[in-house]
Amino acid sequence: MKVVTTIQALRVEIDAAKQAHKTIGLVPTMGYLHEGHLTLAKTARAENDLVIMSIFVNPTQFGPNEDFESYPRDLPRDTALAQSVGVDIVFAPSAEEMYPHDGGIRIHAGEQATILCGASRPGHFDGVLQVVSKLFHLTQPTRAYFGQKDAQQVAIIATMVRDFNFPLELRVVPIVREEDGLAKSSRNIYLSESERQEAPAINEALQLARDSFLANGDAERALVKAKAHIHARTHGRIDYIELLAYPDLTPVTATTQQVLLAAAVYIGKTRLIDNCIFTVK
Ligand code: PAJ
Repeated sequence: MKVVTTIQALRVEIDAAKQAHKTIGLVPTMGYLHEGHLTLAKTARAENDLVIMSIFVNPTQFGPNEDFESYPRDLPRDTALAQSVGVDIVFAPSAEEMYPHDGGIRIHAGEQATILCGASRPGHFDGVLQVVSKLFHLTQPTRAYFGQKDAQQVAIIATMVRDFNFPLELRVVPIVREEDGLAKSSRNIYLSESERQEAPAINEALQLARDSFLANGDAERALVKAKAHIHARTHGRIDYIELLAYPDLTPVTATTQQVLLAAAVYIGKTRLIDNCIFTVK
């Protein structure tokens, strides 16, 4: 496995792969890898000749009061884990390498970014699209791998890929969870012991709401149940729990087939997100 930190060195690798007609799988991450990230990499390994994992804590997707500075980083650990699942190239650039100058041009995420996480994280998805589009240009992947854990992120990236004709296939990998149901996240290490015990209530609440909605089609009632569960089982503060049509992220109607049930909850100071996607009919 190679670790490259410059765009020039990456280009050499990509040119060689393209000349050899290799398929390229890209797994974008911000590092501090866990089984969720590694499942994306394993899926990419099974489907491509060359697997590239990017590890870059992207400053442009963090708000001024968010955790950019404290976001966990451990490149030696990450590279060992990446190697263990068969990644060929880790691309770990510095912020200066990725953003050497700012011409002020931005990709603006549309309507889909005004709700759910976008409502409380203004500009977040613009930053995600900025870095993801750069990574797509830099690595020219045949396939790019994202987790359903960030369902809104996937929906918005899918729109960019479609509307801007990126010549690649998006692959979405199901949420990887801890044994007690908590969705794996690099941010879980922020949780104290008691917060960690409360955190699985988010997934439990989503399951309760899904079962309720499937039983009687009443979205309001389902969300009330979910909120009551979180209030009963945690000291957390709910940012949102919502039911939307997927992947459009529009209100659920009588003709909706796929539903996204998504939540963001502050457990202590840590903002955790989770979701489930299910078919109505
Ligand atoms: P990060 O939070 O590091 O996540 C990298 C990828 O791993 C994302 O596609 C995310 O959905 C996926 N992932 C995280 N936890 C997962 C889990 N428990 N199960 C399955 N997949 C999981 O998302 C980002 O980084 C950034 O926004 C990025 C796309 C890299 C742009 O900077």
